[in-house]
Amino acid sequence: MNTTVEFIKSKLNNFVPEIAIVLGSGLGELADEYCDLAIPYSEIPNFIKSTVKGHKGRLVFAKINGKNVVMMQGRNHFYEGHTMQEITYPIKVLHALGVKTLILTNAAGAVNESYKPSDLMIITDHINNMGANPLIGPNDESLGERFPDMSEVYNKELVKLAEECAKKLEIDVQKGVYWANSGPNYETPSEIKMIRQLGGDAVGMSTVPEAIVANYCKMNILGISCISNAASSDNGEKLSHEEVIDTTNKAKIKFKSLVLQIVADL
Ligand code: HPA
Repeated sequence: MNTTVEFIKSKLNNFVPEIAIVLGSGLGELADEYCDLAIPYSEIPNFIKSTVKGHKGRLVFAKINGKNVVMMQGRNHFYEGHTMQEITYPIKVLHALGVKTLILTNAAGAVNESYKPSDLMIITDHINNMGANPLIGPNDESLGERFPDMSEVYNKELVKLAEECAKKLEIDVQKGVYWANSGPNYETPSEIKMIRQLGGDAVGMSTVPEAIVANYCKMNILGISCISNAASSDNGEKLSHEEVIDTTNKAKIKFKSLVLQIVADL
């Protein structure tokens, strides 16, 4: 951990990031537009490279609307074969760099029948169905407790702030529960029905491991899902990664302006 943190700090000229944004599939553009310094993951000691199309794989530092921000342009996923500990290592690094507020973003499939592709959903809670947990293993007491409380992972004040920002910008947002599966396959129609019955509003393959670790480190967390597709249904329509990226591209103007407003108002 020290090697990683010291390496990053050596590039930063005393810039201390207060807000971190993890940019999900198709949502990385913000880090192209606001970039004072970029460090590819491949150059950072102990970081793993991103292997998914549409994910770039670098840490981007920038002053945005007066705030010191670090963005993860691309993330690693459990379905790539990495361990839960490996994919959440960057969150612990962000915490060590001084980040207090973490904005987690992702592309997700709609489960709630009132959601449409390209809607944005503020995450109010999550359900971990990944079958694994990043906190398994010896506990580092300097980071957090052995049995962390999970009663408010997604900070209620930040949910309120995000809603107010959306209202200011006249963007309609949904609020709901993010259900995480390991992937990499999308869901069957029966699985979607089950997720709906069990309280999920959107489904994806990321975010939850990061939220578990960030909550454990006592960071303030906001989650935003970009609804990239109607979830798998019986109507014969097939779902592809290209469709997910395409729809996310359509939503990203809304997404970017919402995130920028949130950073300004934080
Ligand atoms: N299911 C799971 N993960 C996803 C989906 C989906 O429908 N869309 C984008 N990520």
